[in-house]
Amino acid sequence: MSLLILDTDPGVDDALALLYLRARADLKLLAITTVFGNADVETTTRNALWLRARLALPAPVYRGAAGPLTRPRGASPTHVHGENGLGDLDLSGVALSPADPGAAHERIIELVRAHPGKVTIVAIGPLTNLALALRAAPDIANLVAGVTIMGGAFAAGNVTPFAEANIHNDPEAAAGVLAAPWPVTLVPLDATLSCVLTNADARELAQQGEAGRFAHDVTRGYAKAYEQLDGCVLHDVAALVSLTRPELFETRVAPVSVALSGERLGQTVWAESGPTISVRLRADGAALARHFRETVA
Ligand code: RIB
Ligand code: CA
Repeated sequence: MSLLILDTDPGVDDALALLYLRARADLKLLAITTVFGNADVETTTRNALWLRARLALPAPVYRGAAGPLTRPRGASPTHVHGENGLGDLDLSGVALSPADPGAAHERIIELVRAHPGKVTIVAIGPLTNLALALRAAPDIANLVAGVTIMGGAFAAGNVTPFAEANIHNDPEAAAGVLAAPWPVTLVPLDATLSCVLTNADARELAQQGEAGRFAHDVTRGYAKAYEQLDGCVLHDVAALVSLTRPELFETRVAPVSVALSGERLGQTVWAESGPTISVRLRADGAALARHFRETVA
């Protein structure tokens, strides 16, 4: 049984990641920690609380960073995740409890120290909380089982021609996290873009029970942003599947750095030195999407 902390900016594909997690008895969710990204942190935290209630997830929700370490926060991608961050799904009718007390990065430190060698942090938003945790407690680098990140782009970006959103949203945080001496697995766009939940698959899922209906409903707005695919991309789900089904990926192990200035800001690049990172460079996207559908249905 793996113990997980999910650091997230919900986000439609983040919601699908939580749906997938709920269906996996081998993954125990210790906490959901929130971060700005797909919306401001008030909204991503509200969405995490909504998802906890809607999906009956027995985990605390800790609010995290409102903006990057050193830069102003960029605009929210409402054209992808809607005005409410969850594809403008109707969120009424679900009673929300407040966020649990404590800052995300402090709770990450406590949980990692409480379960030495056992906790995997799965980060599917900007890496600010992880950078703050490392800054306050560098010892956690030796105490985690691993850190799995959805982020980065080696061939082409999604927010600029070079950069992927989670890294571009806080490049200094990402640079610090990739330079730390902990075991990191990076799941970049190069792999995730092939992992597509087609609209036909979503319609079929909708006939297969409550979880499938939720996957269908929450992705309707998000799928419009991926109109050319006739479906939508399972970026954040791919980070979790990288843990449960690593054989679905091709991996390159090498140091990686982050461009911190110029037009390539936020690009992930192969580096000459530094800690080695396991980069999931390609995925069997069809098999991954099928695995997602079979798991949640
Ligand atoms: O670039 C894709 C990533 O950015 C995903 O994690 C998505 O939810 C957004 O955070
Ligand atoms: Ca995300």
